[in-house]
Amino acid sequence: MNAVTAAPPYGRVLRLDELLEIARVHEDDVDHVLFMAAHQSCEILFAVALRHLEEVRAALDAGDADLTVRRATPLPRLMSTLTGHFDVLATLTPAAFEDIRAALGDASGFQSAQWREIEFLCGLRDARYLSTAGFTARDRARLEARMAERSVADAYHDFAAAHPDRAAAERARLALLAFDEAAAVWRARHAVLAERFLGTAVGTAGSEGAGYLWRAALRRALPEVWTPVS
Ligand code: HEM
Repeated sequence: MNAVTAAPPYGRVLRLDELLEIARVHEDDVDHVLFMAAHQSCEILFAVALRHLEEVRAALDAGDADLTVRRATPLPRLMSTLTGHFDVLATLTPAAFEDIRAALGDASGFQSAQWREIEFLCGLRDARYLSTAGFTARDRARLEARMAERSVADAYHDFAAAHPDRAAAERARLALLAFDEAAAVWRARHAVLAERFLGTAVGTAGSEGAGYLWRAALRRALPEVWTPVS
């Protein structure tokens, strides 16, 4: 067998049969397909972002500025890709959105345990979210574990205070700032999207809707990186 035929085929490497079987791309209504698949795609990217943030924390704790930059560099691009999903969803007509909303019941991205994990891992920890309606026991256990873990914010604080090479520390800060800035843009785009479809109506999770998301848009996951290293 030569090296080419021994290589696993594309579909097997990516487990495409399983992935596309469970992907919400089979519904008759293509607007529903767009909405559901966009959310599934976002959840995959949230998982990738979590992995990178864990690596960023490890690099900071190792005092390795170059590795911090390397691990952090994909993060703003991931956030921009996530923001692009909102641009796609903004192409839904108001009628299509209303139809989807009627089918959603009280399901909402508010119940995305992975998004809350990203916030908790970074250091943005509000214990009230642990009791989010719709979280499973497994979601709660994961978030409780994140709550007890060292945060990226604490790792950055210790790194920035101690790193002997101030220029290298500043490069690491800028890489993390690019992530937090892109996350802030994601939040703001989300609020605009919700305002477009909901106006002043409440969200499916029962929050104030766009008003809640606009307030959330002021959150910064890593507040300390917004100040230059001295
Ligand atoms: C037309 C599309 C969308 C609309 C109108 C919308 C609207 C909302 C609203 C109103 C909330 C506040 C909670 C509530 O009462 O429901 C919310 C929360 C949330 N949504 Fe969306 N959303 C949309 C798409 C998405 C997508 C594609 C994602 C990606 C997974 C997402 C993730 C989230 C997250 C993570 C929260 C919690 C945010 C926080 O607490 O800071 N949403 N959304």
